[in-house]
Amino acid sequence: MAAMSLRRLRDNRHIRELTREVRLHPEQFIQPLFVVEGLREREAVAGLTDVWRDTPASLLRQIEADLGQGISKFLLFGVPAQKQERNFSHTVTTDNIAAIRRQFGNDVWLAVDVCLCSHTTHGHCGILNDRRDHVLNDTSVTALAAAALQFAEAGADCVAPSDMQDGRIAAIRAALDQAGRERTAIMSYAAKFNSAFYGPFRLAAESAPGADLPLRDRASYQIDPARPADALLCAERDAAEGADILMVKPGLPYLDVLAMLSARIHKPWAVYQTSGEQAGIDLPAERGLADAQRAQLESWTAFARAGASMIISYAARRARRYLGA
Ligand code: PBG
Ligand code: ZN
Repeated sequence: MAAMSLRRLRDNRHIRELTREVRLHPEQFIQPLFVVEGLREREAVAGLTDVWRDTPASLLRQIEADLGQGISKFLLFGVPAQKQERNFSHTVTTDNIAAIRRQFGNDVWLAVDVCLCSHTTHGHCGILNDRRDHVLNDTSVTALAAAALQFAEAGADCVAPSDMQDGRIAAIRAALDQAGRERTAIMSYAAKFNSAFYGPFRLAAESAPGADLPLRDRASYQIDPARPADALLCAERDAAEGADILMVKPGLPYLDVLAMLSARIHKPWAVYQTSGEQAGIDLPAERGLADAQRAQLESWTAFARAGASMIISYAARRARRYLGA
């Protein structure tokens, strides 16, 4: 027998529990929600287990059920029926924010995604130039700040811009403060990468960039996967512009980035386990090729280890069951 045993502390459940360095709890999870204008009945999101494109009525029922499972923090995506080039209407989002607030008061913490890709005819996260080969930065930022203010006035606790334009945090903070909304928090999708792990989301949010455009992907505004330094610059800039919470997205492919950023910037860090990552657990699990609970716990543990204090997960509503909490 080796003199120095490392196996002794792995021997039984009790000692493993006592020696864990990170722990998970349902209170650290945020559940994404989609509410879709003009939908008659709620629809399942392809590839994800127990995730829905909700109607206003089913949205409230879902939140009620989630509260019953100990989940009280949400990230809402409003999907309008009418797609536009400019002059966007955010009533699908603001109406549902107000309804959630009416029914649940402060029992829920509600963050609302701020972007334009579910609104635009072309699926990009901002307003295009006339040649349709470029997202106009400042024109888009003006529209984003206006949306964020409407969400705050409708009752959002937090606005979460996911567009990756320059200067949007400063513009949103200024718009909120000028309107007396200094208590509304900003969660910046600061380190958001140009990723292939967004597939199911784009179908759910009707936000895939059109294949017939000169501008086919989001590479000119989202961060290149080979550019961790860009993620650091974005995070520093967004913190300086007034973001309260910073995010890394996707999660598992960018754990190194999350660990690096959370060690260097002492803001609360969120991680977004994206729809493609979630499908990578749920689809094999459905076919008996993975244990969804174990895969989920292993990935959530990795996020906590890498420095995230909060986890945005499509499986948040399963957290209590999975954690045995
Ligand atoms: C875009 C946005 C994306 C997600 C949320 N907002 C990514 C994208 O389409 O580029 C991804 C979420 C997910 O995949 O779960 N504003
Ligand atoms: Zn977008």
